[in-house]
This record gives sequence, C-alpha cells and structure tokens, in this order.
Amino acid sequence: MTSDQRVSVPDSIRTNGASPNPWWANAVVYQIYPRSFQDSNGDGIGDLPGITSRLDYLADLGIDVIWLCPVYRSPQDDNGYDISDYRDIDPLFGTLDDMDELLAEAHERGIKVIMDLVVNHTSDEHAWFQESRDKFSDRADWYWWRPAREGHVPGTPGAEPNAWGSYFGGSAWQFDEVRGEYYLHLFSKKQPDLNWENPDLRAAVYSMMNWWMDRGVDGFRMDVISLISKTLDPKGRLPGESGGSIQDGPIGPEGYSDSEPFCSGGPRFDEFLKEMRAAVFSGREGFLTVGEAPGIEADQNRHITNPTNGELDMLFLFDQCNVGHGPKSKWDLVDWDARDLKRALGGHQDAVREVGWTSLFLDNHDQPRAVSRFGDDSTEKLRSLSAKALALLIQMHRGTPYIYQGEELGMTNAGFTELSQYRDLESINLYHQRVDEAHISTPAEMLNSLAHVSRDNARTPMQWDASTYAGFTAPYAPREPWISVNPNKDVINAKAQQRDPDSVFNFVKKLIDLRHTNITLTAGLWDLLDPEDPFVYSFRRSLDEDNDLDTPDDEILVAVNISSHSSRLPEQTAALINGQGDSDSVLLSNYDASSTAASLMLGKLSPWEAFIYRLK
Ligand code: GLC
Ligand code: CA
Repeated sequence: MTSDQRVSVPDSIRTNGASPNPWWANAVVYQIYPRSFQDSNGDGIGDLPGITSRLDYLADLGIDVIWLCPVYRSPQDDNGYDISDYRDIDPLFGTLDDMDELLAEAHERGIKVIMDLVVNHTSDEHAWFQESRDKFSDRADWYWWRPAREGHVPGTPGAEPNAWGSYFGGSAWQFDEVRGEYYLHLFSKKQPDLNWENPDLRAAVYSMMNWWMDRGVDGFRMDVISLISKTLDPKGRLPGESGGSIQDGPIGPEGYSDSEPFCSGGPRFDEFLKEMRAAVFSGREGFLTVGEAPGIEADQNRHITNPTNGELDMLFLFDQCNVGHGPKSKWDLVDWDARDLKRALGGHQDAVREVGWTSLFLDNHDQPRAVSRFGDDSTEKLRSLSAKALALLIQMHRGTPYIYQGEELGMTNAGFTELSQYRDLESINLYHQRVDEAHISTPAEMLNSLAHVSRDNARTPMQWDASTYAGFTAPYAPREPWISVNPNKDVINAKAQQRDPDSVFNFVKKLIDLRHTNITLTAGLWDLLDPEDPFVYSFRRSLDEDNDLDTPDDEILVAVNISSHSSRLPEQTAALINGQGDSDSVLLSNYDASSTAASLMLGKLSPWEAFIYRLK
C-alpha cells in the first residue's frame, strides 16, 4: 500500500475527539509467536533472525504493526512468559543485536514493533525473586509472600494461605524452604506474582519499559495486566487469609477457589496504569499500548481506553473467546450460535460508541484456531470460505484488528490425539488435574477437550510451504520442530496462497487494504442488525452526520452467514437491501460480486457467504 492511497483519519473522528494522534485507529496488527514462526538455525525453534527473514511477507500482506510475543531471557516454563531477565534476549531466539536488526528492518518497511510486557509476574529464576527469598533483603517485599494458614504445618496439604487455584492447575501458592513462607503464583509455580503495592518494584518496571522504548520499540502488549492490583483488606491481607476480613470465593469442581474476582481490575488498577502512562509514555509519540484484560467488562474498557483518563490505548476483552465454553470451565464444551458472538462482540462495540476504543480478534496464541472453532474445517471448500467469512466479520467491526500468525492462511487446529503430542504446560497440567486428581473427566473426554481448546492448537509451526517441515525449519535440519507440523501444510501454506488469487491470504490482504482506504470502515459508527437471528451476523457502518471529513462517506452493510448451510436474509438486513442486488456495490465478497448480488435479490445467503456492500 502506498501512503498516498491511504486515508488519513482526522483526530476528531478516530476516538470521537478525545485522543491526540491515534494513528492505530486504522492500523492492523500481526501477532508473532516467535517459537513457531521461522527457525533460522535448524534447532527446531523459531527465532529473531527467522522473523527478520520473513518481513517482506508481512509487508506484502500489508500489516502495520507486529506484536512480538516474549523473546526475553527465560527458562521457558511457559514459553517465555516466565522472564528471568527483562533486558536480554533468550539465546534460543538470538541476541540483542538480532533484536535491533529486526527493529531496524521492520521500521525500514514502515512496520512498527510492540513487545510483550509480562509484569504481573517474573520467572522464579529472576534475580529479583532470588533476592526476595531472603526476608531481610531490599526486595523482600517485591512478591506476595505469606505465612502458612494458622494452625497448619507450613508445606503440608491445606496449609496454603488461601484457597486460590492457579490458572494452570493446582494451588496458586508454593512453599519456599529458604524463606519458610509461601509465594503467590496465579500462573505456574515458576511464575511468581510481583507485588505492585511496592513503589520500588513499580519504578523498576517503568525504568525497564523506558529502556526498551529508548531502544526503538513502539509500545507494548501487556500480559494479564488486569491482574496487577490485588484486593486487600484494611490490614493488607488477601481474601481468605488467616486473620483477614475478606472471605475467599466458593471452592470449584477442581478443588480451588477463583482468584479472578479479587485480582482482575483490582482497587489500584487505574492508578497503576495512569502512573505507568506518565512514567513511560508522556512526551513520546507514535506508540501503542494494548492490555490483555481477562475479567474486565466492556464498561470498564470504556473508562480505561478513554484517552482523557491516561491509561491504555486499547484492551483485549475475552467474551468472544468464551463463546462455546461451559459455565464452570473452558474444558466443558457447549453449543453456541451467531447470537452468542453478536452479544459478545456487540457488547464491546456498544460500550465504546461515544468514547474509547477496542481491539478486534478471534485468534491468538492462547486460543484454538478460529476457523476450527467458529468456522468449518471439515472440507477444504468450507474451510476457505469460513476463514474468509470470519476474517471479514472481525475486521469490519470498529476497532483495531489483530491477526495471529497463520490466521491469514486459515490455519486449523493441530489435530493431536495423544497427550504426548502436547507441549503446553496448561494443557498437560489440567489433563492430570482433571483426570488423575479430581476425577472429573475421563482420559477420552479430556483428550477431546484438548483437541478443541488446547493452546497448542495455535502453536504448531507456521505453514510456509509444503516441504517436510512446512518451511518452518529446513528439511535437513538437525532438530525436528519443537511441536509437530500440521500435515495439512501440503494444502494450507503461504507459498501456495500467495500465488492463488482466491486464497484466504489474498482475501485478508484486500480486507487490510479496505481498512486503510475506506474512512467509514475505520471510523464509522457500528450498528447491529437482526440481533436475534441465529445464523446471519450483520451490521451497518456509517459516519456521524456532523463529521468534519472531506472524503466521501459511504454507508456500508456487512453481513456474514455463520453457518455451513444457506440462510435467509433476516428482516432488518433485507429491508436495507430492499430486493435490490447490485454487483457494483459489492466492495468485497468471499463468493464473487455477481453471486452475492444474486443472493441479495433472492434474499438468501450461501454457506458462509460474507460480504461488504455499499448502501450509498
Ligand atoms: C497470558 C499469556 C499466556 C500466558 C499467561 C501467563 O494469558 O497470553 O500465554 O501463559 O498470560 O503469562
Ligand atoms: Ca532457531
């Protein structure tokens, strides 16, 4: 895309006047999971030089920003989300020089790079944690250390300070022999939570962030940032702790209570974010901050992303990812239809209609592949149609779209059938917890759940071509890829799709181009149509009457048939079309303009038919 074709959006409209220079309002972000993107040295693990070697592919796709998952020094207990040195690169991925090179080469192509920032916790191998194990050190208070529950022998079952379970299975507390106390870890026991109540710790985090900004990164995606402020009673005790005045939540089927109500969006959350904004970003320009925010509601998102509050540019909310999950846990699968997606995504849109912003995504490194989960990967034809339909659906909402590596090819779930194929600690731990300890799933049930929900579904190597290891690593490489390549690389791969004008890749490329060039799609209001229709998800995009734009403004209809059968055009959508179907008004369709025009005249959408239609 040449910059002269690209529409520039006036400040006033991008975030309804509240934010200066929100360049990210018509940007598209591409997420890279470095381990699985491109291996350059044959050790079977993706790395920084590998990413640099693929920048031309990303430039061809047309994305504006890379979100790079963690590449810092790390014992790799949770694939880099356990950091032992924030100011170094893990040798698995390369060196600081390789990082500088990636930044320079990306910037050269007009692509910005934001890094993952994991500051709810560190690795237990981080020097801060090692020092903190000594009660008398300066960093004694940088983590959540607590004595055993009253009347219990430290280190014995039931002596944990409260009943919180970890997201990755088991108790959220680990006894440390050296200190003679427990430390809190909401994730694995190798990921102790940092104590944000301590001002020195906060200053150390901001200083590290400034170090990276000065080095040339363009901002951060902030890992589980919503969990940094924990609820405390007036005496500083956590819920459920001995002698404290706040009760812990009820015990769930796995034997633990849920920490999220007490940790997500906690009492000092806004204060910490404002402090961070001032300490790291004031005086800087052209950056992007996006916070991963499990547990945060759409209304809180409006507050946090309202630029006048000086917190974050946007958040990842998860309602759409929870569609199809049972009420108790994501491992219980339930039926869903388009209405669930409309409620989840529509709720996000409605909350920021006046002010604030939202990010748009279905896929990431923690989610199963969207095409397998919400689409239909049972035949090659349906896979391709539904991958395009979902991409169109998500990108045509108002907000900043995120594409996860391979999503632009319609990559599918891994298809693993045995536990030994999995690498993710969450998948492996939860299998044992549910099957062997709590006896709430049979092995077959849990393998079925993993096949649908495991994070490893998104972590198989990027499919570049049809060679033995899909071009992720050389066919003669000394080490096999760290996780198996999906055998469907023979059909689904970048090389084939770049050449095929009808591929998912070329369709996504057109979507990105539309976002860059059509002002209504970037900035226009979003209005849901036919909320109760279970199959067709449709909405209208239009500019505010009193916009101050001199570009022509369209009124646009977006409709997607979220099903593998044909569906009737629902009432409100049909009324807008009014029996007309004009192929010249079809801006994009995953069939072709004339068949979509015909569908409109007949009032019936084909399986997974998805289109963008100019109403005026
Ligand atoms: C976030 C990351 C996930 C990681 C967890 C703990 O949810 O996206 O991959 O395991 O935080 O850092
Ligand atoms: Ca490598």
